[in-house]
Amino acid sequence: MNIFLLITLIIIQRSHGVIYELNDTEYDKMPPLFHLEPYGPCVHEPGGVYCTVELKLVSDVPSEIMTTIEEYSLRREMNLNHSRLNRGVCVTRTCKDYLSQNTSADLNLVLEGCLNDTLWKQYKLKSKLSTEVLCNDLDNKVDVDYGDVAVAVICLAILILNIVGSLYDFWFISNKESKGNNFLICFSIRRNWKRLVACPAYSHDQRLRRFKGFNGLRTISIIMIIIEHSLLPFIIAPNDSHELERKYNYILYHLFIDGGLMVQTFFVMSGCLLSYKLQLYAEKRDINWTMIPKWILQRWLRLTPSYALVLAITTTWLRFAGLVPLWQRAVGVEVKDCRRDGWLNLIYLNNYIDESQCMPQTWYIASNMQLYVSCLIILTLVTNVTARKIVLAVLFVVSLIIPACHTYIQNSDAGLIISTETVRDYFVKDRKFNYSYKSEHTNFSNYILGLSLGMLIYYLQKNEFSVEKYKKFKLVYWATLPAMLILLPSGSFFYFFQNSSALYIKAIYSGVAKPLFGSIIVLIILGMTFKLENFYRGILEWNGWTSPARVSYSAYILHVLFVRSLTGTRSTLIHVSIAHVILCNLGTVIITYLAAYPYWLLVEAPAVALSKVIFSLGPKQKSKAESELRKNERIPA
Ligand SMILES: *[C@@H]1O[C@H](CO)[C@@H](O)[C@H](O)[C@H]1NC(C)=O
Ligand SMILES: *[C@@H]1O[C@H](CO)[C@@H](O)[C@H](O)[C@H]1NC(C)=O
Ligand SMILES: *[C@@H]1O[C@H](CO)[C@@H](O)[C@H](O)[C@H]1NC(C)=O
Ligand SMILES: *[C@@H]1O[C@H](CO)[C@@H](O)[C@H](O)[C@H]1NC(C)=O
Ligand SMILES: *[C@@H]1O[C@H](CO)[C@@H](O)[C@H](O)[C@H]1NC(C)=O
Repeated sequence: MNIFLLITLIIIQRSHGVIYELNDTEYDKMPPLFHLEPYGPCVHEPGGVYCTVELKLVSDVPSEIMTTIEEYSLRREMNLNHSRLNRGVCVTRTCKDYLSQNTSADLNLVLEGCLNDTLWKQYKLKSKLSTEVLCNDLDNKVDVDYGDVAVAVICLAILILNIVGSLYDFWFISNKESKGNNFLICFSIRRNWKRLVACPAYSHDQRLRRFKGFNGLRTISIIMIIIEHSLLPFIIAPNDSHELERKYNYILYHLFIDGGLMVQTFFVMSGCLLSYKLQLYAEKRDINWTMIPKWILQRWLRLTPSYALVLAITTTWLRFAGLVPLWQRAVGVEVKDCRRDGWLNLIYLNNYIDESQCMPQTWYIASNMQLYVSCLIILTLVTNVTARKIVLAVLFVVSLIIPACHTYIQNSDAGLIISTETVRDYFVKDRKFNYSYKSEHTNFSNYILGLSLGMLIYYLQKNEFSVEKYKKFKLVYWATLPAMLILLPSGSFFYFFQNSSALYIKAIYSGVAKPLFGSIIVLIILGMTFKLENFYRGILEWNGWTSPARVSYSAYILHVLFVRSLTGTRSTLIHVSIAHVILCNLGTVIITYLAAYPYWLLVEAPAVALSKVIFSLGPKQKSKAESELRKNERIPA
């Protein structure tokens, strides 16, 4: 498939009027995209005013540089838009002359005039301000408000509950058999720690143990996702934008940049666990519609408290993580959007809202919740095996068609293009991301693959399927990893090898790419559950993945907080080199996990335990298999 794509696309057909590459001499004739004057010395001066602004370059007279800039920027997948400049200016120093000329003048006019002048002197270009001017002057001071205090009180209360719970567990319940106060014991750090490091994680049911490799899959995928998100500062504030663009021009780097398909792994795993769990449940009890609200509520209770706390922190304290004028766009916008749309996150509908930047990474959690609800309803209403197969097959076909139609009708890109320019706008202006990347109905296919996989594994286990005669296919199995590595950046083949491929090819690709990636994951999981070989399985089933996999939901909801704060507290541009990129990747992963462990212990584990307590108050007694399974299904899935 990919080789086919490569061959068809390799016919390089460059369109006119687009400049693909510039050498350094020519490049440096263009004004630098990003420039920040020193921040500290400016604001430390009495009355110092530091402002940031985005400019749009214009030219009143025909200009050679302007033409170069426009043509170079047309290559929007790889190159930055060089007619948008970001500037941080110490107004009280750099624009002193303009201020002294007219002290009562509007700051916007002063800045525009001042920048017009500098640009004219150096490049014979002029500019217009295209965003509001953000300054550190006194009106913009950020004060602690009631919301901040409330969130701080909640955090403190959680901490105190944990301390009290742990002390209670330590002193009053020496006898391990005794259960003690159900409520307080949920907060016992000692018990939660034991749960965190318990290994192996799975129940006495031999069948469930075969899912151990999910730990590895989950942890590796999360780490890849964090690594990708941690590239943010390099894209929105590089000190050498040419170097950044050159890296974008190597397809090898797109392995790291285009990780959009990676998240599909979670849809497969999640679907697989749902259908498997339902079948185990059906062994002991009848499946009927009354369980639908109960399961949904259970899931909501399990996921929401820890999510809500991160949301609350994002809405309040995060705004102190940005130097006001510099990183309003990196941090402040999210805070503002969360105040407006945050409630949608809590009912898991935020993926259908455009232009909200409130915890954008959680589109996945919302989408997965919606898929869970729809598929739970489908599977509980259709219990007959044959009928289920038919329904799933029909849905699968539909799920292939929907994304293709989206691409065709909206005339959009084949895959999500993670270009520098879309990242610079935090995807808000990207049509692909907006509607067809993050919504539920375009991610159906892999969830259905997952559901079918769960049914297949259950069926094969029941019939004591023997893998022996398939062992000769080991090589095919080992080919899954290289296939994944080719598929991940395959969306970018479209613009690497041809500037504009036919729309219908793009449409077909966008229908097929996700399920193709999902099928690879399905193969890996199948081989793993039936012990086809020991190499991949050994890696994925390594005991060391157990506890990172348990905290992976915490890590997922927390990591963007750190990416944003690490960007927001910078006062200089960042150097683009592989060493720095790796440093930043590793640093973000480590910080995220260092925070995710305590977060799991203090917040997520007690919340999950509490939700179980709430449910066991009800009249029904849970079956053992069910509670084991719940333990097993650790989300972001
Ligand atoms: C860059 O390109 C220009 C025009 O194509 C050429 O005149 C110049 O010599 C080149 N500079 C270098 C360093 O290659
Ligand atoms: C670059 O940005 C300017 C200003 O926002 C815009 O007018 C122009 O269309 C953009 N160019 C491309 C190729 O997107
Ligand atoms: C100063 O600015 C004000 C308001 O922008 C304007 O009306 C006035 O003419 C300006 N004076 C000078 C000397 O430029
Ligand atoms: C800066 O230059 C642009 C383009 O010529 C012009 O529209 C704008 O009014 C100028 N700004 C000032 C403050 O002179
Ligand atoms: C996002 O998609 C919706 C629905 O297609 C559309 O109405 C909206 O204008 C889009 N927004 C952007 C920024 O493309």
